[in-house]
Amino acid sequence: MEQEKIIVLDFGGQYNQLVARRVRECNVYCEIYSYKTDIEQIKAMNPRGIILTGGPNSCYEANSPTYSKELFAMGVPVLGLCYGAQLMMHLLGGKVERAAVREYGKTEVCVDTTSPLFHDVTSKTVCWMSHFDYIAKVAHDFKIVAYTADCPVAAAQNVSKGLYAIQFHPEVLHTKEGTKILYNFVRGVCGCSGMWRMDSFVENSIQEIRKKVGKGKVLCALSGGVDSSVAAVLLAKAIGNQLTCVFVDHGLLRKNEGDEVEEVFGKTGIYDLNFIRVNAQKRYYKRLAGITEPEEKRKIIGEEFIRIFEEESKKIGAVDFLVQGTIYPDVVESGLGGESAVIKSHHNVGGLPDCVDFKDIIEPLRNLFKDEVRKAGVELGIPEKLVFRQPFPGPGLGIRIVGEITEEKVRIVQDADAIYREEIAKANLDKSVGQYFAALTNMRSVGVMGDERTYDYAVVLRAVNTIDFMTAEAAEIPFGVLQTVMGRIINEVRGVNRVFYDLTSKPPGTIEFE
Ligand code: XMP
Repeated sequence: MEQEKIIVLDFGGQYNQLVARRVRECNVYCEIYSYKTDIEQIKAMNPRGIILTGGPNSCYEANSPTYSKELFAMGVPVLGLCYGAQLMMHLLGGKVERAAVREYGKTEVCVDTTSPLFHDVTSKTVCWMSHFDYIAKVAHDFKIVAYTADCPVAAAQNVSKGLYAIQFHPEVLHTKEGTKILYNFVRGVCGCSGMWRMDSFVENSIQEIRKKVGKGKVLCALSGGVDSSVAAVLLAKAIGNQLTCVFVDHGLLRKNEGDEVEEVFGKTGIYDLNFIRVNAQKRYYKRLAGITEPEEKRKIIGEEFIRIFEEESKKIGAVDFLVQGTIYPDVVESGLGGESAVIKSHHNVGGLPDCVDFKDIIEPLRNLFKDEVRKAGVELGIPEKLVFRQPFPGPGLGIRIVGEITEEKVRIVQDADAIYREEIAKANLDKSVGQYFAALTNMRSVGVMGDERTYDYAVVLRAVNTIDFMTAEAAEIPFGVLQTVMGRIINEVRGVNRVFYDLTSKPPGTIEFE
């Protein structure tokens, strides 16, 4: 059966991935494409509906992103959001102008509950607005179905043609009933039945992998992170011991992490796969000795990994396939999917080598968002501890130790971080705070402990809330929790006499330290 699909046409808005995620939360599969995608290509994908995202431009200006008017005559429902809504009106003969008042933030909106979009939505609800242009006049045959104090057209529709325009952002959680509105569009207007579920994803992927791999040999670089773990288990379930996982312990993992990964995937684990753990700690510390420049550290960690992986794969002999834990945001952010600028090139341990001979790459998670990867992990029976693990960068603690990396500093940051994570979990904050960890400054300062002068390191606690990891705000960890963590670190971790809390947002800071 062909998969029901919604297409999100990206006009450069900051919430494009959020739109796609919300649609998938309605159990409908969707993909993001640039507005530059040819209409014939869109037609060939046979979408059940199309969503036009917001964007930073003004649609009446020359050279602003636009689309062929034919899109609205395909007989496929279209929902325009913010810029997408304005563009729809502009192209179909309405009028978009600069508004006298810029609307930004949570705004009360009155909606016509007889509209298919607003089925079951309260007539006065809260939405998230962010626009300086507004729809001054709707296109012919459109009816206004929502307004706010400053915005006469907060939503408009042409039901018979299946065209809907919303000025606000239903994809943002500040829009109280936003998910319901998107649900009404994809499940109601577009008539999608909601077949996109993780259990069927897992089942289908296993079949596809078997078909692709046949009797071939597959190699996977396992980092112990969520993505590579879920990819590895998916492959293990599909092809068992035709799979070999190489896990490089570079000595920059969190406390006990190497052993935990081995417990799950190694001999004692439940999976029938070949697991190779390479204990390369000493090798890494030696290579990193005396290196203080952040980029150089990163480079060495990455290079050393490739070298080790190469050595191991030579021992294994020819392989047919290499597994990569690429996920959908990576695809979109590398500029292959949506319209957003290339934000980061891949720096994951997964992003790998041409040094290994292989026929093809397998990317079983290429179409999944992070939360879907986690759901697939749960579906596959991977321990929760692994599935809900904090994001952890490929270079590991290497970029959480400012300055030179030494074995002692690794021990300090591992112990401090373990305490911090333990206390955050105890305070029930582990699911609500985005990313949190301890880092080690390169600063030593004078302190006093038990009547003695100390001259020790300062640990920094970091906790941020973020939607997309591109921007972040320091999280408000209760002072009492921070004090407990501080007390425990000072008492339990040798070599530390000061604990800081990092208040910096991103920008200007980054989430990691190097
Ligand atoms: P920054 O420090 O750039 O981090 O604000 C944003 C997010 O990316 C993660 N990060 C990395 N992940 N390899 C990774 O796999 C890396 O080299 C890397 N650097 C940063 C970081 O943990 C945060 O979630």
